[in-house]
Amino acid sequence: MTKIAVLVSGSGSNLQALIDANLSGQIVGVISNKPEAYALERAKKAGIQTAVIEHKQYPNREAFDDVMHQQLLDWNVDLVVLAGFMRILSAKFVKAWEGKMLNIHPSLLPNYKGMHTHQRVLNTGDVLHGCTVHYVTAELDAGQALAQGLLKVNVHDDVNTLADRVHVLEHVIYPQVVEWICSGTIRHTEQGVLYRGQAMQEPVQFCKF
Ligand code: GAR
Repeated sequence: MTKIAVLVSGSGSNLQALIDANLSGQIVGVISNKPEAYALERAKKAGIQTAVIEHKQYPNREAFDDVMHQQLLDWNVDLVVLAGFMRILSAKFVKAWEGKMLNIHPSLLPNYKGMHTHQRVLNTGDVLHGCTVHYVTAELDAGQALAQGLLKVNVHDDVNTLADRVHVLEHVIYPQVVEWICSGTIRHTEQGVLYRGQAMQEPVQFCKF
């Protein structure tokens, strides 16, 4: 059974979606870099062990990442799922978990890497927006995309309504991709990413229109 750790910094609604999905893998632990993250409450309610590793208590990124790495090893983790984890990870940490670490990002990557994606979409006047689940590589928000949720931007949308609507899609596509990995439907191999045994050419799309 795939042992999953979820890394969080905030509310943890994606963590909740993963908990509620009854995955064939097991969420063995949740790590937060923020002690006040509501995601920790969600984990505790679900009976999942938690670890708070505060980045502020370490002299640099590598030292913080080393402690997280050790915690993941202690939990015997097979898959690391970043769910609103708002820290950039060191190259060494990313290398150690290459092919075993996922992120969800609130934009249709490769568009709008980084922060404030909803505002940037509104500023540009894009018609399409959404979210992307991707493998994590050393370059920020640039690893292979596995799935995307798409929605149409309405004329009345603001940052808050867009964030809410993207969240709804996130809660569908993230558990689905994690389950595909747990079940071997998606596999990270030396030959590349396989989806149902074939090379994955483009992310699986989920449309909300
Ligand atoms: C999600 O919208 C996720 O896509 C975003 O943070 C939010 C966390 O919500 N992640 C990033 O921006 C990563 N760069 P949640 O805590 O309710 O799951």
